[in-house]
Amino acid sequence: MRVLVIGGGGREHAIVHACARQGHAVLCTPGNPGIAELARILDSAQDADALAELAVREAVDLVVVGPEAYLAAGVVDACTARGVPAFGPTQAASRLEGDKGWSKAFMLRHGVPTAQHVTFNDLEGALAHLDSQFTPIVIKDATLRAGKGVTIAGSLTEAAAALRDIFSVADNKSAACAVVEDFMTGQEVSVLALTDGSAFALTPPSQDHKTIYAGDTGPMTGGMGVVCPFPLSESDLTYIRERIIAPTLAGMRAEGMPFQGVLYAGLMLTPDGPKVVEFNARFGDPEAEAVLPLLQSDLAQHCLDAVRGELDPQTVEFSDEASAVIVLAAPGYPGDPVRGVPVGLPSTAENEIIYHAGTREVGGELQSSGGRVLAITAVAPTLNTALARAYALADRVDFAGAQLRRDIGGRIGARAVEDV
Ligand code: GLY
Repeated sequence: MRVLVIGGGGREHAIVHACARQGHAVLCTPGNPGIAELARILDSAQDADALAELAVREAVDLVVVGPEAYLAAGVVDACTARGVPAFGPTQAASRLEGDKGWSKAFMLRHGVPTAQHVTFNDLEGALAHLDSQFTPIVIKDATLRAGKGVTIAGSLTEAAAALRDIFSVADNKSAACAVVEDFMTGQEVSVLALTDGSAFALTPPSQDHKTIYAGDTGPMTGGMGVVCPFPLSESDLTYIRERIIAPTLAGMRAEGMPFQGVLYAGLMLTPDGPKVVEFNARFGDPEAEAVLPLLQSDLAQHCLDAVRGELDPQTVEFSDEASAVIVLAAPGYPGDPVRGVPVGLPSTAENEIIYHAGTREVGGELQSSGGRVLAITAVAPTLNTALARAYALADRVDFAGAQLRRDIGGRIGARAVEDV
């Protein structure tokens, strides 16, 4: 197949890598220096119509859309209108991620378990609501904010500041919207479902680490490291399939917007059972960098089957090994990351992959060009060994001031030691 992957981060590097290792010819836009080693990079305007025209010109068999912003911009709709198979939800269906107020209301309509919440379109109403609330409390920007639109406020003053921020940063203040919801306790787990809108296959569950500092402290990021598989019980897994994923897909069909692509359920394993923290409409980043190296079957074929409404979950096969991802972020992230810092990469052994997330090449030198710069993955028979190898590799990267968390996997008792 000729596959066009849209995006240029670590997730897209993992998608390109998964397609290329099955022998597909891969093209990518805008790509990054790591992706350029595996795929032909195409220059293109990044709006939906230009991308769909590019897919037509390049006669690709399949488009795989990585980032949520392209889905929300209608890339899949634009490709479909031109007869090009595109993996990912339509603009309407991607609302499940892009509009968190709508998404919460959808969950209520379809009985999908989630936190108690109230959605506000005005700052005054939201601030007044805080008067009757307890802390900690969760404040979410209802629009797309690259994982950084969530504040877990330890005080009502902090909650009020987060609300003021949401209503002041909105380009179009009339579109600003905030969700105020109860804080849920428990382990957080990411469950990704590849789906054609009805049938679905779950990837192994994984756990991301969302704050910048160890001990789950500091501001939220897009994700600083992942362990996979997360040890979910069979009963939780069955509950997630039957009470969360299946009713969500059925609800989307019933509301006239079947969801084809990756349904990413960010879940909290609360004392009352798994509940949805949020839905995303695409592969997680860096979850993709942990999950896709374990995929043994053909990602591009699964994506094409999903687009055609013919996904056979039995054909989706994962290795029973474990993987760990350590993110190296630029100094300053998640605020204002320093760009242009030289990055020197070590050699990698089998089962080690350095995914590029925010890099660029200037005059032959690799440099940081974004917040999360590299996602370092190791696959091994045990999670401890995968962590040990990923950390050892991360420590060999030459990147002054790089930030990384040293406690990835700690929440589930994993630690970076070689198991024998
Ligand atoms: N890792 C979190 C996300 O992809 O949104």
